[in-house]
Amino acid sequence: MSRHTRELAWRAELDARTAQGLRRRQQENRFASQQVINFSSNDYLGLSQADAVKNAFQEGVNQYGAGSGASPLVTGFYPAHQKLVSQLCDWLNKPCALLFSSGFSANQALLFTLLQREDVVLQDKLNHASLLEAGQLSPATQWRFRHNDMRDLEKRLQRHMPLLTITEGVFSMDGDKAPLTEMAQLCADADSMLMVDDAHAIGVLGEQGEGSAAEITPDITLVTFGKALGVHGAAILCDELVYDYLLQYARHYTYSTAMPPAQAMAVSAAIECAQTEHWRREKLQALSACFYETLDSTIHAPITETAIKPVIIADTVQCLAVSEQLKGLGFHVSAIRPPTVPTSRLRITLTASHTAQQVIALCQALNRILS
Ligand SMILES: Cc1ncc(COP(=O)(O)O)c(C=O)c1O
Repeated sequence: MSRHTRELAWRAELDARTAQGLRRRQQENRFASQQVINFSSNDYLGLSQADAVKNAFQEGVNQYGAGSGASPLVTGFYPAHQKLVSQLCDWLNKPCALLFSSGFSANQALLFTLLQREDVVLQDKLNHASLLEAGQLSPATQWRFRHNDMRDLEKRLQRHMPLLTITEGVFSMDGDKAPLTEMAQLCADADSMLMVDDAHAIGVLGEQGEGSAAEITPDITLVTFGKALGVHGAAILCDELVYDYLLQYARHYTYSTAMPPAQAMAVSAAIECAQTEHWRREKLQALSACFYETLDSTIHAPITETAIKPVIIADTVQCLAVSEQLKGLGFHVSAIRPPTVPTSRLRITLTASHTAQQVIALCQALNRILS
């Protein structure tokens, strides 16, 4: 296709998105100066602002400089990275961990590297885009099972005999948990490896914030550092064989600059906070109770045990309008729309940095707008 024709096609696609009210816009985060309360952040434990984490980052910069300077297999892997790896293995009870610059690249690395043409991968329908896209682009055959539907999973395990079955521990847009104990049993019976993407569970669930590891030990776990741990980056936890294979063949690992060692130090500090500062999880629980006590029961807000509180507003235009109204009242709540989710919703996230008064004020505003 010529450049001119392709550019016309791109414009037409963008115009169609705008017409459907689905056009995304880059938002500058100026909440601190605007007095807007942010209810869309994944900083669930408030650790991005914790002194211990910020100080560790600063110390790391003083000790190592700003960047790692190379891929981890060249000279980019420092003692700070090794400390983080050991800490992750102890915390999540797995023998090996491999660090990545982002959860998106870790998921792509994993699926592109492990899956071959003869393999089948089975995923929950609502898995994150990084997983579904990687499965689709991999040489393997991908099937999806109905969201959290264990009978559908069982049927598909028997029919497709997947090498790998993938779920999220806590689903990013619905805030619900996967039935992990039953899933692990079904996968073991079918001789399928189970991978859990714990991006939204780590730090939030478990006595010491260990996420899904509190319930099961999956064959492979992905954890991200940019959400409850308040920093950035990710790790894959696995056994020795998968680790060795990824280390040799995962191109996102080999051919990408390692995360800065200062960042690894900040993540280490964040993990220590997540393990020991139980008050952060207790506060989230208290805010969650406050949210459901104040929100009008006629509002369609499925109850979740996590920090993610979706409010379903299927009409996309109305959903956007409510988000704008809330902004006018001083609350930032993102409207999440198709194609990211099947049904439009406000994705409200609670964090340990919120106060009960802020949560009550948000719910009262929603009650006025929606009831
Ligand atoms: C379930 C899930 N997995 C992976 C990712 C990607 O992680 P990262 O933001 O570190 O790229 C996200 C990010 O939103 C996510 O929600």
